[in-house]
Amino acid sequence: MVKLSGVLFILAAIASTNAAVLYRRAPTGGLNVTVESEQLFCSFLPKTQGETIGASESDAVPYCTQANPPNAPGATAFPDGFIKTAHFVTTDTYVQVTGTMDITKFGLDPTDGGGQYDNQGEGSPPGALCTGYEKFVNLVEPSDGIYCIRCCKNPDECDTGKSTEGCHTIIPGDYS
Ligand SMILES: *[C@@H]1O[C@H](CO)[C@@H](O)[C@H](O)[C@H]1NC(C)=O
Repeated sequence: MVKLSGVLFILAAIASTNAAVLYRRAPTGGLNVTVESEQLFCSFLPKTQGETIGASESDAVPYCTQANPPNAPGATAFPDGFIKTAHFVTTDTYVQVTGTMDITKFGLDPTDGGGQYDNQGEGSPPGALCTGYEKFVNLVEPSDGIYCIRCCKNPDECDTGKSTEGCHTIIPGDYS
């Protein structure tokens, strides 16, 4: 009897460990974003509308100009009217989109100075990647109504070390 209950305990422990792993993976879907053109790009956004960007850095999800694009499987489409302008730039080593957003379309907080998503270390959120690129940096600044994302082959060109300086400094570009 002692042996049997020990085995049952171990089986229960294994089952609950597996359940925890499945539970963690199942709801997240893909965590890849993609930046391909002015018409096809993505940004991380909070899992829950109304949450601040900073608070969402550990569990944000990819949103794109269309649902479930081939290079960002599982991503959700941006709400209609959320992206107001988008300016795409491509070089030999990186791609980027910069622009303005209507924060009311996602219930973002107009007093929220913003935050940064990236794949430095484990990633913010963990597991985040930009398809086809080694590194990415993505900022969303509700109080200024701007967002930016750059994906880099050369990690030096995606500076993840100064998030408080914001889009204008980290990803120079057109924010009109
Ligand atoms: C996600 O991005 C990584 C890094 O570029 C890439 O290796 C991987 O194939 C991508 N996954 C999907 C599903 O596109």
